[in-house]
Amino acid sequence: MKLLFVASEAYPLVKTGGLGDVAYSLPVALHKAEVDVRLLLPGYRDLLRKLRGVRILGWLELQGAGQMHTARILESQHPGYPFPLWIVDCPALFDRPGNPYLQPNGYDWADNAERYTVFARAAAELARDALQLDWTPDVVHAHDWQTGLVPAFLDMLPQRPQRIFTIHNLAYGGHFSQADFKLLELPSYWWSAEGAEFYGGFSMLKAGIVYADAVTTVSPTYAREICTPAFGYGMDGLLLSRRYKLHGILNGIDPDVWNPATDPYLPAHYSVEQIQPGKSLNKAALLQRFGAQNPAEHLAFPLLGMVSRLVEQKGVDLVINAIPGLLASTEARFVLIGAGHGYFEQRLLDLAAQHPERVFVFIGYDEQLAHLLEAGADIFLMPSRFEPCGLNQMYSLRYGTPPIVLHTGGLADTVVDSSPNHIAQGVANGFVFHDPITSALKGTILRAMDYFYQPAVWYQLQITGMKHAFGWDNSAAEYLTLYNKGATA
Ligand code: ADP
Ligand code: GLC
Repeated sequence: MKLLFVASEAYPLVKTGGLGDVAYSLPVALHKAEVDVRLLLPGYRDLLRKLRGVRILGWLELQGAGQMHTARILESQHPGYPFPLWIVDCPALFDRPGNPYLQPNGYDWADNAERYTVFARAAAELARDALQLDWTPDVVHAHDWQTGLVPAFLDMLPQRPQRIFTIHNLAYGGHFSQADFKLLELPSYWWSAEGAEFYGGFSMLKAGIVYADAVTTVSPTYAREICTPAFGYGMDGLLLSRRYKLHGILNGIDPDVWNPATDPYLPAHYSVEQIQPGKSLNKAALLQRFGAQNPAEHLAFPLLGMVSRLVEQKGVDLVINAIPGLLASTEARFVLIGAGHGYFEQRLLDLAAQHPERVFVFIGYDEQLAHLLEAGADIFLMPSRFEPCGLNQMYSLRYGTPPIVLHTGGLADTVVDSSPNHIAQGVANGFVFHDPITSALKGTILRAMDYFYQPAVWYQLQITGMKHAFGWDNSAAEYLTLYNKGATA
């Protein structure tokens, strides 16, 4: 089976969040299942610099916004990838530094509609083997709004591959104006309520939902939630009417990249067979990294960690509001890593400045530090208001760092609350609360800290989480079933 996997980011080449992790680990898992994969990515500046052994497959002329673009299609190998990468190299659109979607001032690139339309057109051209490479995919799998037009462009092919579209986050709809729609010369039949039109503009995410043969999202609970007004961002009706082709498939994690026994980012390794002293050595290293005066003095006290995009979705305000009271009434320490809205960044920096020996903050994106935090913290905080899947809670489970989560989306599907019953059954692995309010989070943190001071129970929670198989085996098999549906149709 030939699969063209189309994404706007992929670890370790370019990553802004969990999409990047999945666009790496899922195709790698599918390759292991003997799928013949090509991963198609935009040729951002930083990505091109990381490639080795690049060859030109050909050139495509692609319609942009009132102008044509010439894109070179490159093929490259990367040590992390067991299959070829295909790159759409179009410097006018992608030769830019930093975050793929945002300008250095934090605003979206003004030509994002054009950038991802041209990228999607390139994917559709490659899917019909326009470059005559003798490689025609059976399946094209696109991800999130940036590639939502891919299933739509493929709709126009007489012999089309099976089209799968995965929603990683419905909150980002890829909404653009009718003027953009016209400038981009998109087909007029898409302009309807049954097409890509959305409240007077158009949505690339909606196009993906409408034109794909199967739509997936990244956990079973989120698949149900997005069919309701509270989570649907105006698309709940559409999704409800497409329920016959909507599937919730839980993300896996890459068991090699996230393995405390071998993780090259960790100063000390540990495993479910022997958690200590490795985990405490990482805790000391983490505190040292933040300049704590005497790391050893902190070791007996619970260290609560968070790695997150600093946006409303992640409930970071709940954490910020809970911290002062917890500092006053407990011995908790906090390490928080993130980047996002300036308001949240500043409030975190203020807390760190007010409590230099109790609150440690890093504003920015640092892959290595994220790994060290997963290993070094005692408790992981992830009170997201909604969470399509969430990878960090799975990483923390695997690193013996029980997470505290809100009961939503993939968090509800992966974290089992430490209720007395669940503890007695040996299935508890973390802490779950139900109302996205500060007092509920605070109460749950206090509950978790009680258990932290009971080593036998705590050890049981840790090993239950560490033993859980969060790999891709089951989920990759579910994707294969969907891919195969097209082959037999
Ligand atoms: P989302 O994709 O919504 O941001 P996930 O939990 O699915 O949430 O994935 C987040 C990914 O991004 C994880 O791999 C996490 O470690 C990483 N990440 C988020 N913020 C940072 C940061 N500031 N520094 C390093 N890694 C980060
Ligand atoms: C999105 C979601 C996150 C999910 C990730 C990978 O960024 O916010 O919950 O884990 O995609 O699917």
